[in-house]
Amino acid sequence: MRKRLVAGNWKMHGNLIENKNLLNAILPSLDKLPGADFAVCVPYPYLSSVQVLLQGTKVLLGAQTVSQHDKGAYTGEISVNMLKDFGCIYVIVGHSERRMLFGENNQTVAEKYIAAQKGNLVPILCVGETLEQRERGITEEIIKEQLKVVTELAGVESLKNAVIAYEPVWAIGTGKTATPQQAQDVHVFIRKMITAQNTQIAHELTILYGGSVKAGNASELFAMADIDGGLIGGASLIAEEFIAICRAV
Ligand code: 13P
Repeated sequence: MRKRLVAGNWKMHGNLIENKNLLNAILPSLDKLPGADFAVCVPYPYLSSVQVLLQGTKVLLGAQTVSQHDKGAYTGEISVNMLKDFGCIYVIVGHSERRMLFGENNQTVAEKYIAAQKGNLVPILCVGETLEQRERGITEEIIKEQLKVVTELAGVESLKNAVIAYEPVWAIGTGKTATPQQAQDVHVFIRKMITAQNTQIAHELTILYGGSVKAGNASELFAMADIDGGLIGGASLIAEEFIAICRAV
């Protein structure tokens, strides 16, 4: 059985009080849910306080990006070991907002992925096409290139300790979700690509869908055979929404 996972990506939202209220509202419900893992990927300044709030619960901590470097003169950057100091288990790498707004490319994303794994963090590797790319019919080509750089540099074996998140850029924060079939088709494409290199790893790989997942559409997305959970933005900030999505998985 593949591991199922729902991870909240808080992006640049929250503060000490809001985070506490949100977690107090969701943790009692999530603790009672069997059969899946749950995580919250929070802004760096709140890793410490959220680590404390998550203690003794089954919800795991993650970050939203990480430096590819171990240490050194990289002003403003945060290393894998720093994240480990605060009990992080996961780190998102290659989110489309990092790629588009902060100049990350397939090479830097692969380097971050490798750095995360070297330090025993589980990378949640994001891939996905823009609307323009989908309309041009090159979705698979884009995803293939995004994944290829990682499997070439890190090896297909590395996917044993990674999660992939398919996040079509046109569905992020837009309220426009991919249909379950559209998402399933890309998930199958990803799994087939990995199958060509290693059937077992492909079979066991957790592939999340992200992009306007809400309480109202989570069940039908998660019912698809190759969708193993979700990476949730906006709805992870609303307790009832996030709880319902976690229940749906
Ligand atoms: P939304 O759920 O807000 O569309 O964001 C998805 C996302 O980017 C998760 O990483």
